[in-house]
Amino acid sequence: MKVLVIYDSMYGNTKKVAETVAENLKHFHGVELLAVTDLDSKILSDTDFLVVGTPTQGGRPTENIQKFLDRLEMNSLQGTKVAAFDTRFSEQNQNFALRTLLRTVGYAAPRITDALKIKGGDLVAPPEGFIVSNKKGPLANGELERAKTWAISLATL
Ligand SMILES: Cc1cc2nc3c(=O)[nH]c(=O)nc-3n(C[C@H](O)[C@H](O)[C@H](O)COP(=O)(O)O)c2cc1C
Repeated sequence: MKVLVIYDSMYGNTKKVAETVAENLKHFHGVELLAVTDLDSKILSDTDFLVVGTPTQGGRPTENIQKFLDRLEMNSLQGTKVAAFDTRFSEQNQNFALRTLLRTVGYAAPRITDALKIKGGDLVAPPEGFIVSNKKGPLANGELERAKTWAISLATL
């Protein structure tokens, strides 16, 4: 099975999660890890399992990821397994106003999984979020370990 992990990252945290995911899928499958900005559209044609990761920005994926999703043709993911993750702030330890704002705008990964499904993808896991301590990071304690566990759970599907 050929797996492609595509990510975007402004400050490097999502990249770290994507690397961890790819590394732990590698034990099971042939994996390619690519920044969305380096993506060649042809590469998708022989992908069996597509994983997409992005920072949450304003409740959404980055513009680069959004453009990638928009460019995917209808039914182009037919027969392709898909999953998505984002990085995001924790709602815990936030004041009421910020917590409400985060909940209201939502998160990127569910929007990605919706888009991937619309393009024909077969969703194999719920959207997942990994927590950053601040806008620029670092990732919260234990999140790379959680990313490893998530990847292994995907790999064994
Ligand atoms: C412009 C901007 C908007 C953001 N909006 C949100 C948001 O709506 N919800 C959230 O949880 N985090 C938000 N964040 C925090 C990002 O999720 C965080 O910067 C990101 O996880 C870091 O990942 P990266 O190092 O891969 O860029 C925002 C960050 C930026 C820069």
